[in-house]
Amino acid sequence: MKTILLLNGPNLNLLGSRQPEIYGRTTLPEIIALVEAKAKAAGIEVKSFQSNHEGGLIDFIQAEYQNAAGVIINPGALTHYGYALRDCLAGIDRPIIEVHLSNLDKREEWRRKSVIADICTGRISGLGPQGYLLALEHFIKPGI
Ligand code: DQA
Repeated sequence: MKTILLLNGPNLNLLGSRQPEIYGRTTLPEIIALVEAKAKAAGIEVKSFQSNHEGGLIDFIQAEYQNAAGVIINPGALTHYGYALRDCLAGIDRPIIEVHLSNLDKREEWRRKSVIADICTGRISGLGPQGYLLALEHFIKPGI
């Protein structure tokens, strides 16, 4: 069975209560359940991991990527400065989809920079939890 890694970075464990006017009211467990249900229907296994630490994400990716077909990642604020995470992702030779709940281009200037965007297959920003499902769609139907 195809396996996808679903990764979330710092503070995304607080979804639901964290700045709901920006990030919405859906919790991370709810988002993961939505992705898992859609994946299961398509015969895909999801291995999910959240960490508030860059090294934790890197350890997980290094341990799991060889058995995975791709990565869906919302790196949180690491998006903007996480060079060690970038180096890790650059080395894994797997399709990576970068997901953000909020539209980074509508926010502070410093959020416009992503240190991983140029090594990702694609990027979804501003569509809320639906962004994760659309990212999964890429792994279900990579050709369209
Ligand atoms: C975020 C955007 C980041 O700038 C922020 O630091 C987050 C969440 C998003 O999903 O919109 O933690 O990645």
